[in-house]
Amino acid sequence: MELMDAITARRSVRKYADREVPKDLLVEVLEAACWAPSADNAQPWYFVALTKPEDIESLRQTLERVSVEIRPHLEELFPRHPRVVNEVTVFLHRMGGAPVYILAFLQKDYGTVRDAMVESTAAAIQNLLLAAHERGLGTCWVNAVTGLGYGPALQEQFAPEKGEFLSLIALGWPDQKTRTPSRKPDRWVIR
Ligand SMILES: Cc1cc2nc3c(=O)[nH]c(=O)nc-3n(C[C@H](O)[C@H](O)[C@H](O)COP(=O)(O)O)c2cc1C
Repeated sequence: MELMDAITARRSVRKYADREVPKDLLVEVLEAACWAPSADNAQPWYFVALTKPEDIESLRQTLERVSVEIRPHLEELFPRHPRVVNEVTVFLHRMGGAPVYILAFLQKDYGTVRDAMVESTAAAIQNLLLAAHERGLGTCWVNAVTGLGYGPALQEQFAPEKGEFLSLIALGWPDQKTRTPSRKPDRWVIR
């Protein structure tokens, strides 16, 4: 797959088939994440990939709460798109049935340049998303858990020594025809 095709055709997948992701594929996408550029070459990320049903199940209550609490925010953001509000809340409830949940952490020892380290971790997550797409896997990058204040609990539960929880990423085999949200114009200039 050409890189430009991967960049433009990757979509957020919010419904997954009930099918395992082979470990070698999971290793590949996690390794791809780690090839991202990073400020001071700090490589400040840490990923925890949850594959055991009991680990995934243990997040269920948190996700149920997130899917309820996020609804008013989504209704405010997308007043004319109830379908989007529904799709996202239903997805968050169980991460669309994804067989793998990847938790992205920012390691503690980043010094004073937190923003640059968050940017570096975001670059790693985008690498992961593109590598997964290239292998036919779907992903969805989820910030709602963090935005609603559940990050510290996940940190405590899954990686207490590894820093700050930033994002959750659903990963699995897509089981939906995704729509392509339009891109906004006038977001760059050449001078
Ligand atoms: C930092 C970040 C946080 C996101 N959080 C959520 C989320 O909490 N729930 C969700 O369903 N999608 C989430 N998304 C996915 C976006 O909604 C999606 O990328 C956007 O609508 C564009 O669609 P596309 O990814 O299919 O191109 C997030 C994406 C990013 C980059």
